[in-house]
Amino acid sequence: MGALTKVKERAFSLREEIERHNHLYYVLDAPELDDAAFDALFRELQALEAEYPELQLEDSPTARVGATPAAQFASVAHGLPMLSLNNAFSDEDMEAFDRRAREALGEEDLAYCAEPKFDGLAVSLTYQGGRLVLGLTRGDGQTGEDVTGNLRTVRSIPLRLPSDLAPALLEVRGEVVMLRRDFDRLNQRQRDRGEREFANPRNAAAGSLRQLDSRITASRPLSFFAYGIGRFEGVQVPQERHSDQLAYLASLRLPVSELREQVRGAAGLLAYYRRIGEQREALPFDIDGVVYKVDDLACQRRLGFVSRAPRFALAHKFPAQEALTRIEAIEVQVGRTGTLTPVARLEPVVVGGVRVTHATLHNEEEVRRKDLRVGDTVVVRRAGDVIPEVVRMLPDRRAAEAQRFTLPALCPVCQSPVQRVEGEVAARCTAGLYCPAQRKQAILHFASRRALDIEGLGDKLVDQLVDNARVHTPADLYALDQETLEALERMGAKSAANLLAAIERSRDTTFARFIYALGIRNVGESTAGGLAADFGGLDALLQADAVRLSAVPEVGPVVAAAVAGFFAESHNREVINRLREAGVRWQEGPGVTARAPGHLTGRTFVLTGTLPTLSREQAGGLIAAAGGKVAGSVSARTSYVVAGADAGGKYQRALELGVPALDEDALLELLKLPDAS
Ligand code: IVH
Repeated sequence: MGALTKVKERAFSLREEIERHNHLYYVLDAPELDDAAFDALFRELQALEAEYPELQLEDSPTARVGATPAAQFASVAHGLPMLSLNNAFSDEDMEAFDRRAREALGEEDLAYCAEPKFDGLAVSLTYQGGRLVLGLTRGDGQTGEDVTGNLRTVRSIPLRLPSDLAPALLEVRGEVVMLRRDFDRLNQRQRDRGEREFANPRNAAAGSLRQLDSRITASRPLSFFAYGIGRFEGVQVPQERHSDQLAYLASLRLPVSELREQVRGAAGLLAYYRRIGEQREALPFDIDGVVYKVDDLACQRRLGFVSRAPRFALAHKFPAQEALTRIEAIEVQVGRTGTLTPVARLEPVVVGGVRVTHATLHNEEEVRRKDLRVGDTVVVRRAGDVIPEVVRMLPDRRAAEAQRFTLPALCPVCQSPVQRVEGEVAARCTAGLYCPAQRKQAILHFASRRALDIEGLGDKLVDQLVDNARVHTPADLYALDQETLEALERMGAKSAANLLAAIERSRDTTFARFIYALGIRNVGESTAGGLAADFGGLDALLQADAVRLSAVPEVGPVVAAAVAGFFAESHNREVINRLREAGVRWQEGPGVTARAPGHLTGRTFVLTGTLPTLSREQAGGLIAAAGGKVAGSVSARTSYVVAGADAGGKYQRALELGVPALDEDALLELLKLPDAS
């Protein structure tokens, strides 16, 4: 065998191998190789192709980085038109669709294939002899644009199909989308570079796919889902049921959504619609509804088309997550550490089935960047439990007299001066705990679950206690009695007694919780844990200056200054003394004992994705050494999920269950610390 033949064979098997690992990684979320091993294969192929240019093929995995820019996209007619779908916006629309299909076919009950309706861009991929030769956008349905070079950069689109299963010709139809986490990262990158952000993942996907320079597309994280077959030649392709065709596409290593299901009748369709609707927020990508297709392909042909949409398929839409409304006013809220946050008061509007009246504007800079003014017509977006956001304003609808917004120079709650910190976007009320707004937030924080955990002390109650001058600082909570509490609105004898019992219980705490509960700026739970471990007791902590504080591993110069500044304030010391007098207590002891190993005993961790430096074995070993346990799957009892790059289903599940997620840094932090609870 000649040398070149050998090299060719090696290149061929490398390509096959790389395609297989791409599929395991990008489609199945089950990599067999770590990044370094994959890179080694990739570099070997690159080196061979560099040495033997005749081996350089357009469909080599090395070509996914993009090619030289085109002047414009060529228009290409679709072999079979790409149709649109009729929409249903109500259960009745869906039932009418099922009834018409049953009547036309003379069937009692129909089997459907139900799928998510991806919110991206439709494309068609043509494979000849198993090789990707053409990729088109939908265009007007008759003619699309040739974006082959761009689609080749999409990692989850196979450039070659497994040779044993590929038919002579196969046109795959599907949707190009951008996953939400990729979208967030891309927008972060755009922000960092001072470039325009994308309004939503769909726009980002569209903008990325229609780049004339495919190297730009290659730098944008696009994904693909196949949902059907266009033209084909070859006996391998199933011809009885749509669901079989999807399974066949999956066997060709094309990404096909796991959310597809075969269901029966209108009841089955409705149940699917509800099920997917419930999962919608937790999915890694945006969907705007579900699609129903009569599963039997012979029935599909009999039903045929009306104008440009099939009679055998229907898109059942979810309520929109975005809506248009008007900004009535821009109000300013004061947070726990005095940060002023502009909040838009909106003309009430229903978004995703919920009435929205306010949306956060984050900070003054954000208001300026989005150029929002009172009276503007804006797009508001709501997703799950996330606070509604103003996405953008519509410039065409701006009133001539609309005024630019500036933060007030005085705190809207206590009229104290507002301070802007150099290099920070935040502006703060300088009054500290003299400001009633900050006082309320500070008390709520003190009572929160991870601080002194006073169950039943909610914001309505704190509002009343502060407004009636019953409580000025957390220390006053310990002076409350049954009579005072019963006099409050919505407070019966029973709940007053329960609250008093909860306050009583909170007296016994840990040093770390106590420090955290004080609400010192920049001192979160882990920093509080570090301080508690290092100082072991309150008196030592109170005496420490910024230099001594900086010696604590968790404490940098900014935190050290905040802690020292906090304890230097006489009113803070007074509150601390009064808390101690009221009987708030904890175990004190030398820091070293608090840092003894085993502090993660009873905690269960689930690892998912690739961590930047630690291998799974290493991370698991460290967790075990600290007394924690590593489990394979996420449940409500999981304490933390440790998520690395390309974390998949386990991470999603954790989000759904509200299990906290750690990255590698946060894990290392936790491993160092004593258990704060
Ligand atoms: S099937 C003949 N299935 O919705 C039926 N379309 O209005 C052709 N879409 O442009 C479409 N998810 O981009 C189908 N699971 C899915 C889909 C889907 C999203 C898009 C597609 C098309 C539009 C139809």
